[in-house]
Amino acid sequence: MKISIIGTGYVGLVTGTCFAEVGHSVTCVDSDLNKVELLQSGGIPIYEPGLGEMVTRNVAAGRLQFTTSTSEGVANSEVIFIAVPTPQQSDGSVNMSYIETVAREIADCITSYRIIVDKSTVPVKTAEKVAATIRRYRRANVEFDVVSNPEFLREGFAVEDLMKPDRVVVGVASQRPVAAMREIYAPFAAPFIITDTNSAELIKHAANSFLALKISYANALSVICEAAGANVQEVTRGMGLDNRIGSRFLQAGLGFGGSCFPKDLHAFIKISEELGYDFRLLKEVQNINASQMERFVKKLEEALWVLNGKTIGVLGLAFKQNTDDVRQSPAIDLCLRLQREGANLRVHDPQAMHKARPILTGVTYVDDMNLVADDCDALIIATEWPQFASVDFARARKRMRAPILLDGRNLLDPSKMEELGFIYKSIGR
Ligand code: UDX
Repeated sequence: MKISIIGTGYVGLVTGTCFAEVGHSVTCVDSDLNKVELLQSGGIPIYEPGLGEMVTRNVAAGRLQFTTSTSEGVANSEVIFIAVPTPQQSDGSVNMSYIETVAREIADCITSYRIIVDKSTVPVKTAEKVAATIRRYRRANVEFDVVSNPEFLREGFAVEDLMKPDRVVVGVASQRPVAAMREIYAPFAAPFIITDTNSAELIKHAANSFLALKISYANALSVICEAAGANVQEVTRGMGLDNRIGSRFLQAGLGFGGSCFPKDLHAFIKISEELGYDFRLLKEVQNINASQMERFVKKLEEALWVLNGKTIGVLGLAFKQNTDDVRQSPAIDLCLRLQREGANLRVHDPQAMHKARPILTGVTYVDDMNLVADDCDALIIATEWPQFASVDFARARKRMRAPILLDGRNLLDPSKMEELGFIYKSIGR
């Protein structure tokens, strides 16, 4: 199948590359000339495990190409995926101008039947609006279909999630595009759900909000566990073994961040409001997430009393492990708070330091994770990178001014850290 993908961000680039990997012929379009030139010369603009080799392999095989021209992408393909950003606006609603612009560009250059697929996370009814826009601006009276095909990939595991999806959701307004969508996804051998476009769009909102709710539930439990002298990891393990609940996304910590959950929650609350429903349950999910950070900072204050003038080591800047993405990162949020309190920071992240530098200034970036703790009054684990478990904590303990270790991701074994002489605090344990 000949496919074009408009927008080569996390979703667009990984989707296009995985489509090429299973044999489709893919043209990736992006208006950013620098990004397209980087990709054409073999570079990768994001860190995503496994992606670089896959791009190189498929470019070499002639199945994957990059261009800045939407008309070239549209001319070269039967199916056009829209994967441009849908950023959050200050009132919580979603900025749809990138999608609208692409819809008009497509309208301007289609000359025969095309299937246009919304891949970006969008408010319900977007497929209907994209169809109306193309109908309004198309030059010739060309036929087309708009399909909603939401993406569920997690950053850091994007290639894995795309190659082995739990399900493929396809929302259509007519049966005509179904065969092509089946053909595109046949190699991925996943359950295929065909529904109307509005339901498909709501599946995405509902799924992400539910996952955020699961995390907030675990975080709320962590507060109870601390008060009751229980261990939240034991409690969530016991819950999660019930198949109806499942053990994933029950990890208590500093709260969720990233470019999706906070934005999608905001947007879903706003959309529900517009549709006449006050989704208070989801507002509480947001509140619990915010209070998790407050509680963590309070724990640090209890340990150190005054933060002003203290040196604090922070391990982790990305919003989670396996990514260089710092958008809406709880770790960055924490660093900025500590800075406002007058603390000096020594920070490290295995992948995200280059993206953190412009937004987190006036801190010491430390290349070696083992040296972060040197001369610190406290050390914090802010992101769940697994390699942080193998920091040389015995050495760190000796180099610190005070042995205070706060684990915001429950990564370490409390008894081992106490054996090493740390005053160790984590979340709900
Ligand atoms: C998410 C969804 O998982 C994905 O399906 C959707 O399409 C895009 O949004 P992503 O934002 O890449 O993916 O990251 P995810 O792995 O879901 O983690 C989101 C945040 O939740 C991170 O900050 C992570 O640290 C936090 N988290 C996750 C927890 O605090 N506890 C958990 O148990 C799981």
